Amino acid sequence: MKILYIGSGFVGACSASVTADSGFETLVYDIDAQKIEKLSSGDRDVVQSCLFEEGLGDLLIRNKERIQFTTDYQKVEVFLDDCDAVFMCLPTPEIGETGESDLSYYFNAAKKLAGSLKKRNGEGQNKYIVIINKSTVPVDMVDQTQEIFDAAGVQNYGVVSNPEFLVEGKAIEGSLRPDRVVVGTWNEKDFQIMRQIYQRFYTSSTVKYLEVNPKEAAAAKLLANFVLFNKLAVCFDVIGRTCETFSNLQFENLRKILTSDQRIGSWGMYDSLYAGGSCFIKDARSLSHQLQTAGQNAPLVNETYLANRRQLELFLGRAEKDAGFVWSGKTVTLLGLAFKQDTNDTRNSPSIDIANFLLEKNVKQINCFDPVAMEMFKNDFPESEKIKYFTDEKNVIGNAEVIIFATDWPQFRSLAGDLQSLTTRPLIMDGRRIISGDYVDLQNNGFNIIAVGSPFIKGAE
Ligand SMILES: NC(=O)c1ccc[n+]([C@@H]2O[C@H](COP(=O)([O-])OP(=O)(O)OC[C@H]3O[C@@H](n4cnc5c(N)ncnc54)[C@H](O)[C@@H]3O)[C@@H](O)[C@H]2O)c1
Repeated sequence: MKILYIGSGFVGACSASVTADSGFETLVYDIDAQKIEKLSSGDRDVVQSCLFEEGLGDLLIRNKERIQFTTDYQKVEVFLDDCDAVFMCLPTPEIGETGESDLSYYFNAAKKLAGSLKKRNGEGQNKYIVIINKSTVPVDMVDQTQEIFDAAGVQNYGVVSNPEFLVEGKAIEGSLRPDRVVVGTWNEKDFQIMRQIYQRFYTSSTVKYLEVNPKEAAAAKLLANFVLFNKLAVCFDVIGRTCETFSNLQFENLRKILTSDQRIGSWGMYDSLYAGGSCFIKDARSLSHQLQTAGQNAPLVNETYLANRRQLELFLGRAEKDAGFVWSGKTVTLLGLAFKQDTNDTRNSPSIDIANFLLEKNVKQINCFDPVAMEMFKNDFPESEKIKYFTDEKNVIGNAEVIIFATDWPQFRSLAGDLQSLTTRPLIMDGRRIISGDYVDLQNNGFNIIAVGSPFIKGAE
């Protein structure tokens, strides 16, 4: 089979590399020339500098005979002549603060594709082709996609909804060994083609291969993300808040008790300053917008979104409220810039809001460190008088009056010892409870600590 990908981001690049690994000739098209150059480099480190996903570089190198990346649309048109399937992996961000999904990237790509599909096989359009939507989209997107292709006069095609459930940071592992594959279409012919593409999963005893209609598939993705987002919000807005409010409630002890109940489960039961990333927020907003447009209220969906925003504001506000800390003129260490560990993705990272908050508070300097996300963060916050980047986590903690742990990178756990040996006593703000095992020692050594899931910890005099 010959398979085309349109969009080479986290989803497109990871999924395409697995498609090539399944033995198919794969072409990946994107309009971002820099990204395409890096992904085609054949160098694991260069690939990782673009998309930091464990195993992506190796998979691309291993399958280099079968996968090509391009910005050249002519190459796409030639490929389409004999192509079996096109995966659409375009961004679908929120339009401003409306909740509505911005489908313009998708529609632009689809309209261009429709023009080319019409011309295939010398305009004969003899070869059947499926258009597979992997982006997270509104429930009725299948109808809208079909309208575009019909209006352009495309024939001999099917539309499939195949939402992506990968987890950033574990995308390759998740794409090679997914827990489920969801395929939504209206007709058997398309199901058959999808079974061929996903042969390795269709016949696997460990993968749930689920065939539904395209609206169910699209809805399932939005709903799955909402359930996960809501669980994170419950963890920090209810469980963590309870532990912050009453003395002698250790968050970790409550987590142990709660997660022993299989119905509750352990995923997401870590307290945090914010649930960031490119998906949960915009997908909850989109779900709410769709429900409200259809005449429903969506109070729980909306409240989950608000709880997340509130969490970061409350956390940052505690410096003044609990510790009487005055931000103006201070030097701040910001540890972690990615929205979570194991990724260089900074989309909706709490550190973006934190850096903006600190600049508004007129701090003297923000000293930043992240093991892999500094280049991405520099797109929003270039190095300047006020923003400095450091080469490792140990260097960045000196000279600060406050140290904020924003990302749950495991290597930050070992920083407690380095903090103890500082001659100064900066305020510690632990937005991930990453050094929770050391709070007592640090307190005894005179550190004031503000941590999600704990009341204010006042350092010994
Ligand atoms: N990132 C995730 O963890 C994840 C997981 C599941 C689903 N999704 C969904 O998958 C979709 C893609 O997400 P992503 O994280 O890969 O996005 P991304 O922003 O990382 O990648 C999208 C790519 O599309 C390219 N693009 C934009 N317009 C184009 C055009 N006209 N032609 C060709 N390429 C074009 C961009 O240059 C970019 O490289 C979104 O709908 C997202 O919600 C993302």
